[in-house]
Amino acid sequence: MLGLLSIAAVVTIVLTTRGGSNAAEDIGSSETEDISPASHVFSTYNLPSNDKYMPSIGNGHIATNIFSDTVYMNGLYNGQAGYSHRARIPAWANIRLNSTLTHHPYSPVYSLDTREGVFKVRVDRERSVVTQRIYAHRFYTRAIVNQIKVEAKTHYDPNFVNQEIWIAIKLMPGPDSKDIAFQEPIPQILNGRTIWSSCGLTKESEDLTYQPLPIEVCAYWTSVPDHLVVPQHGSRVFTFVMTADKNKTVAREELIKVLQEDGEVLFQKHVEHWEQLYQQGGMDIEGNLELAKIVNGIWYYFLSSLPSEESFQPLDRFFGLSPTGLARGGTFEDYEGHNFWDTETWMFPSILLLYPQYANKLLQYRLDTAYVAAELAKITGNKGYRFPWESAYTGVEVTQPCCPDVAIFEQHISGCISFAIRQYLATTRDEEWLKHGGCDIVTNIADFWASRAVIDYNTGLYDISNVMGPDEDHRNVNNSVFTNVVAGYSIYVSCLCKDYYMAKDPDHWADIAWSLALPYDQELDYHPQFTGYKRGEPIKQADAILLGFPLQYAMNHTTRLNDLTYYESVTRENGPAMTWSMHTIGHLQVDDEKKAEAMFNMSYKGFVREPFKVWCELRRPLSGAVNFFTGMGGFLQTLMFGYAGVSIHLDRLEINKPRLPPNATKFTIRGIKYLGANLTLEISANSTKLSVTSLDDNWRLVLNDGKYNITLAPGITVILPGSGPFTVRSEPWKDCKLPTDIIGQNYLRPIGT
Ligand SMILES: *[C@@H]1O[C@H](CO)[C@@H](O)[C@H](O)[C@H]1NC(C)=O
Ligand SMILES: *[C@@H]1O[C@H](CO)[C@@H](O)[C@H](O)[C@H]1NC(C)=O
Ligand SMILES: *[C@@H]1O[C@H](CO)[C@@H](O)[C@H](O)[C@H]1NC(C)=O
Ligand SMILES: *[C@@H]1O[C@H](CO)[C@@H](O)[C@H](O)[C@H]1NC(C)=O
Ligand SMILES: *[C@@H]1O[C@H](CO)[C@@H](O)[C@H](O)[C@H]1NC(C)=O
Ligand SMILES: *[C@@H]1O[C@H](CO)[C@@H](O)[C@H](O)[C@H]1NC(C)=O
Ligand SMILES: *[C@@H]1O[C@H](CO)[C@@H](O)[C@H](O)[C@H]1NC(C)=O
Ligand SMILES: *[C@@H]1O[C@H](CO)[C@@H](O)[C@H](O)[C@H]1NC(C)=O
Ligand SMILES: *[C@@H]1O[C@H](CO)[C@@H](O)[C@H](O)[C@H]1NC(C)=O
Repeated sequence: MLGLLSIAAVVTIVLTTRGGSNAAEDIGSSETEDISPASHVFSTYNLPSNDKYMPSIGNGHIATNIFSDTVYMNGLYNGQAGYSHRARIPAWANIRLNSTLTHHPYSPVYSLDTREGVFKVRVDRERSVVTQRIYAHRFYTRAIVNQIKVEAKTHYDPNFVNQEIWIAIKLMPGPDSKDIAFQEPIPQILNGRTIWSSCGLTKESEDLTYQPLPIEVCAYWTSVPDHLVVPQHGSRVFTFVMTADKNKTVAREELIKVLQEDGEVLFQKHVEHWEQLYQQGGMDIEGNLELAKIVNGIWYYFLSSLPSEESFQPLDRFFGLSPTGLARGGTFEDYEGHNFWDTETWMFPSILLLYPQYANKLLQYRLDTAYVAAELAKITGNKGYRFPWESAYTGVEVTQPCCPDVAIFEQHISGCISFAIRQYLATTRDEEWLKHGGCDIVTNIADFWASRAVIDYNTGLYDISNVMGPDEDHRNVNNSVFTNVVAGYSIYVSCLCKDYYMAKDPDHWADIAWSLALPYDQELDYHPQFTGYKRGEPIKQADAILLGFPLQYAMNHTTRLNDLTYYESVTRENGPAMTWSMHTIGHLQVDDEKKAEAMFNMSYKGFVREPFKVWCELRRPLSGAVNFFTGMGGFLQTLMFGYAGVSIHLDRLEINKPRLPPNATKFTIRGIKYLGANLTLEISANSTKLSVTSLDDNWRLVLNDGKYNITLAPGITVILPGSGPFTVRSEPWKDCKLPTDIIGQNYLRPIGT
C-alpha cells in the first residue's frame, strides 16, 4: 500500500494529473537509426537501449512488446477499481536467438514490416542465414507465432564437412505473473511435440457488483529446446506457438490447428490478412520518407490493437482502444489499458473514414458498458448515462487513486462519445445501429447534460458547473467552453433518434441547448476557457481551440485566429502532441500555411522514437506514456482533416483546400468510406483527384466540384479544380438542423465572461 501511495505522490507532484505518469527524464536511453529505404519497413542493426521503445506485435486479441516478458490480452485485467490494469501473462512466446543475446561476430538486422505485420530478426552467420519471424497471427487470433528459418549456406568449407548446423535459442517468459495465479504448467505430447499448458485466475475483481468472479485465462505453448539442428546443406522452418484465451478449449484448439499448418502456409495466411487490411484503406505519402514512415507506423500500431474481421474461432467482445494500445498497460504503466476520451476524440475520427467497421467496434464498447454509465449518473445525482473518465473491464470508473479530480470533473467524455456517434452516423447513416442501442446511448447522454445544466436567472442562460475541460491544469471550473459545446451538441444529436426514442422533454432540451452559457470575450474577440479564466494563465493542452476543430463550431475567422494565437502562447512546453496537431489544422483553416508548417513540425518532432516510430506522450527528453496512440491519432487528423481538407457533416462530406503536407510530392488517401462508397483522394502539387472504386446501391452520390454537379459512378475519376470546397452529397437524411451544419449562426449565444 505504501509503495502505491508513494508512486501516486510522485505523479501528483510532477504534473498533478494523469497526463504525465512516468514523466521522468529519459536519461541515457539511446535511439538508433532506421536504415530501411522502404516506407513500410523500419530496420536497424541496434535495438534501442530502452526496452520501452521496442515495437509491439498484436492482433486485437493478444499483443506483446517484442522481447518483453509480458503478453497482454483484450479484456484481461486485474486489480480493484483504480488499481485495475492489464493482467500480465508470462511471455511464453518470447524466444531469443542466442546470437542476439550475447556478443557475437554476426550483426543481426532487426526489422518491423508494417505491411506484413511481422517483426524479423536476420542473422547472417558463417554457415547459415537465420531469420526469426515474430507475429500475432491475424487469422489464428489466439496465437503468437515464432518461426525460425535456418538456411544453410551452400559453399563448401572443409572445416565443417559433415557437421550439422546448431542454432542456440532461449525461451525467456520472465517471472511468474503477479496478476494471475497460474497453475504449475503441465506437459503433454501432441503429434510428437511437447506442449505445455497452464490456466489461472486473475487475483482481484475490478468491481464485485459487475464482476463477481475472477477471470480465468489459459495458455498453451510449444516446448522450446536450447538449440535447433539443421543438416549441413539443409534448410528448415521451426515453428513455435503460444496461444491464450479465456476459454481453455479455444486456446487448445487454436494451438492444435496452428501446428497442423505447414510453416510457410501459416505465415502466408497471416500476411494475406494484413494485406487485406492494407488494401481496405491507407495514407500514402511520396517525397517525404520520414512522414511516410511515421504514418505507416501509426496505422500499423492502431491495427495491431484492433480485432480481426475474420478469425478461425469467434472472437470475444472487444474492450476498446486505449491510449497506449493492447501491448502496454501494466500496473501504473502507460494508462493501464484503460479507455478514455482519447479513443473517441483522438483515434476514432481517422479510423472512421478508412475502417468504419472498427469505428463501430469502438462505439460498441460504450454500448456494452452503458448500463454501468447509467448507474454512475444515478450515484452522482444526474440523469441518463454518465460515462466514467476511465474504464476497463466492467465499465466502472477506474481512474488511479492518485488523481481523483479527473474522474470527478472531466465529464466532457460523455459529450465526446456523443460527438463521435454523430460523426459515425453522418458517414454511415446506420439505422440498424440507431435502433439497437445507438439511440439509447445518444438520448441518455443528452439526458445527462440536461440534468447537469442549471438556469441562472440573472443571465437567462444555462450553466454547467464543476467540471474540467481537456486542460487538466484547471479543475473544478464553471462553463468550460469545450464542455458546454459538446454538451449542447449532445442534446442536438438526440434529434437523430426522434423516430425511435423520444426526448423526455424536447422543448426543455432545445431551450437548454440554445441557451448554454458560452464564455466569449467581446473586447478581445476570443473564447476564455471557462468563466473566470484569467488571461495569461498557462494551460496543459489544447482546450478552447478544439471548438474550431474537431468540433467545427461556427465562429468568425478573427475569433478563430485569436483563439489560436492566444492559446499557443500559454500552452505549457511539456504538453502532449495533439495540441500542436490541432493548432496545425487551425492555421490551415485560416490559410496561414507557414505557421501551420511550424505547428505541424511541433506536433511530431521529439515525440517519435527511432527506429520503430514509437510515440511518447511528452517531447524529448521526457517520455510520459509510451506508445502514445493519442498523439498518433491527433497526427493522423492533421493529415486527413488539415492537409487533405476533409470534413464530415450530417448532409455531406466536404473537401476544402486540399494541400500537400510539408515536403511531400504526393499524398493519397485510399479507401475513404462515405455512405458505403469507397473513394480515393489523390493530392499532387497542382491537382487533386477523386476516384470512385465502388458505390452502395442505397445511396446516390453527387459531387459538386465547385461549379457542376456530377453523379458519381464506380470507376470514375474526377479532377477537382482549384481549392473548393468540393462536396459529396446524397439525399437529405433526417430533418435535424445540427449545429455544426449551420455555419455562421451562433446557436449558442455568446456571452461576456
Ligand atoms: C544461450 O544463452 C543463454 C544465456 O543467455 C545460456 O544460458 C545458454 O546456455 C545458451 N545456450 C546455448 C546452447 O549456448
Ligand atoms: C468454450 O469454447 C467451446 C468451443 O468453442 C464452446 O463449445 C464452449 O461453450 C466454450 N465455453 C465457454 C464457457 O464459453
Ligand atoms: C476500396 O478501394 C480500394 C482502392 O481502390 C480497394 O483496394 C479496396 O478493396 C476497396 N475496398 C472496399 C471495401 O471496397
Ligand atoms: C461555480 O458554480 C458553482 C455552482 O453554481 C458556484 O457555487 C461556484 O461559486 C462557481 N464557481 C466560480 C469560480 O464561479
Ligand atoms: C462576427 O463578425 C460579424 C461581422 O463582422 C459581426 O457582426 C459579429 O458580431 C461577429 N460575431 C461575433 C461572435 O463576434
Ligand atoms: C522543427 O522543429 C525543430 C525542433 O523540434 C526545429 O529545430 C526546427 O527549426 C523546426 N522547423 C520548422 C520549419 O519549424
Ligand atoms: C521541409 O524541408 C525543409 C528543408 O529541408 C526543412 O527545413 C523543414 O523543416 C521541413 N519541414 C518539415 C515539416 O519536415
Ligand atoms: C505545377 O504548376 C506550376 C505552375 O504551373 C509548374 O511550374 C510546376 O512545374 C507544376 N508542378 C508539377 C509537379 O507539375
Ligand atoms: C447542384 O445540386 C444542388 C442540390 O443538391 C443544387 O442546389 C444546385 O443548384 C446544383 N448545382 C448545379 C450547378 O446544378
